[in-house]
Amino acid sequence: MTYETLYRRSLEDPIAFWEEQARAIDWYSFPPEILTTDENGFYRWYKGGKMNTSYLALDYHVANGRADQIALIYDSPVTNTYQKYTYRELLDETARFAGVLADLGVTKGDGVIIYMPMIPQVVFAMLACARLGAVHSVVFGGFAAHELALRIDDAQPKVLLTASAGKEFDKVIPYQPIVNEALATANHKIDHVVLYQRSFGDCDLSLPGYHDWETLRSKAKAADCVPVDATDPLYILYTSGTTGKPKGIVRDNGGHAVAQRFSMRYVYGVEPGEVYWAASDIGWAVGHSYIVYAPLLTGCTTILYEGKPVRTPDAGAYWRVIEQYKVNVFFTAPTGFRAVKKEDPDGLLRQGYDLGSLRQQFLAGERCDAATLEWARELLKIPVIDHWWQTESGWPMLANMVGTGLFPIKPGSSTKPVPGFDIRILDADGAQAPPNHEGVVAIKLPLPPGCLPTLWNNPEQFRESYLNAYPGYYFTGDGGYFDDEGYFYITGRIDDVINVAGHRLSTADMEEIVASHPAVAECAVIGITDELKGQVPVGYVVLKSGANTDESQLEADLIKMVRDKLGAVACFRSARVVKRLPKTRSGKILRRTMRNIVDGKPFAAPSTIEDPTVLDEFNQLVHDAKSL
Ligand code: COA
Ligand code: AMP
Repeated sequence: MTYETLYRRSLEDPIAFWEEQARAIDWYSFPPEILTTDENGFYRWYKGGKMNTSYLALDYHVANGRADQIALIYDSPVTNTYQKYTYRELLDETARFAGVLADLGVTKGDGVIIYMPMIPQVVFAMLACARLGAVHSVVFGGFAAHELALRIDDAQPKVLLTASAGKEFDKVIPYQPIVNEALATANHKIDHVVLYQRSFGDCDLSLPGYHDWETLRSKAKAADCVPVDATDPLYILYTSGTTGKPKGIVRDNGGHAVAQRFSMRYVYGVEPGEVYWAASDIGWAVGHSYIVYAPLLTGCTTILYEGKPVRTPDAGAYWRVIEQYKVNVFFTAPTGFRAVKKEDPDGLLRQGYDLGSLRQQFLAGERCDAATLEWARELLKIPVIDHWWQTESGWPMLANMVGTGLFPIKPGSSTKPVPGFDIRILDADGAQAPPNHEGVVAIKLPLPPGCLPTLWNNPEQFRESYLNAYPGYYFTGDGGYFDDEGYFYITGRIDDVINVAGHRLSTADMEEIVASHPAVAECAVIGITDELKGQVPVGYVVLKSGANTDESQLEADLIKMVRDKLGAVACFRSARVVKRLPKTRSGKILRRTMRNIVDGKPFAAPSTIEDPTVLDEFNQLVHDAKSL
């Protein structure tokens, strides 16, 4: 079917379209209703359908000829460990770990927080939760104790799963001190902590509530799949928003399974039995969808890579993995490619590897600059496809779809809307912008299956963050435009969210931390362009009158505070003192204008500016710093 036909059908009759797609998965009982609204008026897909995501990802394949196919490859250059699990072995491990959770009293609807490095146990744990109908919430290992505590308080889990340590390049990151601090500061009390002891990172398992993973596993019996409703939550994944508190994105079971299956076939063009590799972290949406769920729901082989694009051991790491496991489709963030390009600009390390298995390279997670895309295309000599999505959607919203035949690639564009996503560009009044006019990227409701139906325990915030700005539309938070040929270009966030090395972070979060320093009167943290990481945060602070602070000491203090409270992943490494911050007459800091100044882009003082001389002052300060 052509892209045009598929797309048109998905919008003309979404119910018939998604009913047909739902037939691709093996329901215990097919949903009696395809699209309904819930008590809050939010759209819900497949209500009343009975299924189990773990069954679809494992048991179904074991029963249908894939028992001995490799399901999961664990490749860890940082620990020199390489393991393969067939579908049968992955099912056994998962069912056994579901038994562990069941023995701890976890049942359908209970919360389980997973704070773990990139090891196979994290996959067993996620699928084990799905097996019991429990709701997992994976917290990225780069977040500090405070962020973990916020998530514990919001998700109210019964059990926390962790490991002794992670490894970043050659640096060991012990997890237990972070977990202990989070447990001590969270208001919600967790009954059980199950810790997987790796060969490094010594832990004290005699502390109250702690259990040794392997001891429990050795005693547990396999647990079977618990049927859940399609609309029951599979997981919560917290993401940065425009406030200091992360938003709990809810993913349901039924819509998710259908959407993931659809995306593998049509967006990525991947067939059951093929090898799919998403080089991301399990703590992000890409990791959830494209390391764990989509490839396994499809019957593919997936790769869990505990390494980096560079220095593990060199900038040929990607090519080594692709050759070794005959990867068919590879997905990573542009930052990964920029890191390789920086160390091996001529791609010399690629020459020694046979990449003949690789058909397409997908990039997402942040804006992909044309130079990086062209470099990758030249090096790999296959289509390099930039596609756009968010934690909220859980699967691509704009893409060049392999399954319907590729359109010519235009660097800088994520190509066209994926079926189910009625994407519009709106101006400030909510009217539709014509081609080549930048506006807000919004999606006409209903969103297709697989996207967030609501925020965890917070329907009001869901409405406020996503639905109220443009009634009848989902507000994405991104700006963009489309050209005369209907290709879409995402130009960047229009809120306080920034993307640092493909990691989504909130500058509002960082401002809250910086502002808590006793010498700081007010501050602005903005994301500025960075050649490697896409964006990095920089703080501009106004001191309290009379504060007698050494500037470099203050900067060091603020860096430490952000690192300790938010995490090293924030990459907050620069703070400067300014006399005043440019503001509008109503007191809103002109962050966008500041960002343009620091990035050396054209800027104009808005008509609402309080005092134009403040902007001149800021411009001069930035200019002076650059010419140093
Ligand atoms: N656990 C603990 N700490 C972590 C972490 C994790 N899972 N992930 C990152 N960090 C820490 C890093 O160790 C680093 O700490 P440091 O300041 O002590 O050095 C800090 O957070 C910043 O990390 P990062 O921005 O990743 O920088 P880096 O220099 O360590 O690595 C790249 C740079 C480009 C190699 C790395 O960002 C990368 O591989 N990017 C690929 C993009 C990607 O996969 N994105 C996922 C979303 S799709
Ligand atoms: P996350 O929720 O972490 O997946 O981050 C989502 C955000 O990343 C989006 O709202 C965009 O701002 C940005 N993003 C993701 N993919 C792309 C892309 N292909 N081009 C431009 N920005 C992107």
